[in-house]
Amino acid sequence: MTAPSNVASDTWKQPFLVGQMAPTSKELDVAACAVTGEIPAGLRGKFIQNGPNPRFAPVARYHMFDGDGMLHAIDFRDGSVAYKNRWIRTPMLEAEISAGRALYPGLADVMNFPDPALIGDAGPIKNPANTHIIRHAGRMFALYETGMPVEVTEELETLGIRDFDGKLPCGITAHPRIDPQTQQMFFFAYSPIPPFLRYFVADAEGNLVHAIELDIPAATMIHDFLITDEHAVFLDSPLRFDMEAFANGGPMVKYSPEGGTRLGVIPRFGQPDDITWYEIENGHVQHFWNAWHEDGVVELSGTFNSNPEFGMDTDDDLEESSASAQAGVATRFKVDLGTGEASVERFDDMEGDFCRFNEDRNGSRTRYHYMSGFRGERSLIGQFDTVVKYDDQTNQRWTWFSGKDHHVGEGVFAPDPNGTAEDDGWLLLTDHDHAANTTDVCVFDAQNVEAGPIARVHMPQKIPFGFHVNWFRADGGHRLA
Ligand SMILES: [Fe+2]
Repeated sequence: MTAPSNVASDTWKQPFLVGQMAPTSKELDVAACAVTGEIPAGLRGKFIQNGPNPRFAPVARYHMFDGDGMLHAIDFRDGSVAYKNRWIRTPMLEAEISAGRALYPGLADVMNFPDPALIGDAGPIKNPANTHIIRHAGRMFALYETGMPVEVTEELETLGIRDFDGKLPCGITAHPRIDPQTQQMFFFAYSPIPPFLRYFVADAEGNLVHAIELDIPAATMIHDFLITDEHAVFLDSPLRFDMEAFANGGPMVKYSPEGGTRLGVIPRFGQPDDITWYEIENGHVQHFWNAWHEDGVVELSGTFNSNPEFGMDTDDDLEESSASAQAGVATRFKVDLGTGEASVERFDDMEGDFCRFNEDRNGSRTRYHYMSGFRGERSLIGQFDTVVKYDDQTNQRWTWFSGKDHHVGEGVFAPDPNGTAEDDGWLLLTDHDHAANTTDVCVFDAQNVEAGPIARVHMPQKIPFGFHVNWFRADGGHRLA
């Protein structure tokens, strides 16, 4: 891509726009991709990645959270594998396409609103819809950290912004949890201005049936949460907004351990006063695995990070701003609802993120948990090189190293429709060859991750670094995170 003449061409030269993070400019439809190995007969459905892919040269400073969402769909059907990718055509991106250039600044300059005359009714802040892709009540939604859901079709056509028939008062995060039995969807929103935290439930038909405001002491960045069979569980971590510092050129979010760290447990349909908070040691969890509730104890796990840093300091030079490569480590948390005691137990020292599991068991005990980890050198957040599987029962760990200069994405578990065991199925993820600038979508036997991929689907173009992936079974079964 080339920059429009009225935008400085060097806005492409930023840390989050090079290597695998550089966007693709092509929207392709490929009926049959080249495959090495054998695709399992039971693997039928779509593996879809959402991620940032800026359509135009950024206005100024660019963070990977800013890029226009692009969906890449890998369709496993009848012995062949098709590929398709499309931008998510949000109203903000449509306004920029009409203008022929970027109009919206990135998060670091988010208060520099675009010219109202150029954006029509698209609103002053971009929702790039670039973080996750889910399906609920038979509809697919692209989600962002703080955006209204954007409905898309399985053919990756954008249908528009959705607000639960006008009932949703604000944008939501990208990590709803769906109960696999009831098909209710539990989700939340946080904000730098009050109310700082809101909690919602939608029923199996997609109607918003529960909406409350939760009282927390300060505005906190809360990326993910959990459910048990009876509860929703929140983390109030030290990643707190500092809008005064932001207005003076500092970072929007700061790690502020003096405010403490707490886990909050509330009945699924509880009212604001029904939440109980439990103090734990300071740290942040970007992504959780699963939670369950047995014998009065809520147990959960995720990657716990004592020094999170997202590289959003507006004082940084344009070509230097980047996020710390440090990630969390696998950690188990227990909250005794009777005694009020909460414990934190790190059970591995390999850093990683992108926590996934067999989400057909969301909210009830799971034994196997998957992660993208770091073994080799990395210079930037997201440069994972190791596929990890944990056994929560034995604390055993299995790994597969992608190799030097290879980066793996998030691994999603695709259950074998004929399987019975929790890990009967496959793990699907991207493996990017940095030197060749090519991407494979790899299929692992989830019961033998350390053996490496049993099949590689060679993508017709590089898939840029993305955030979350999901698996959508061809039989209509839900894969939801
Ligand atoms: Fe996430």
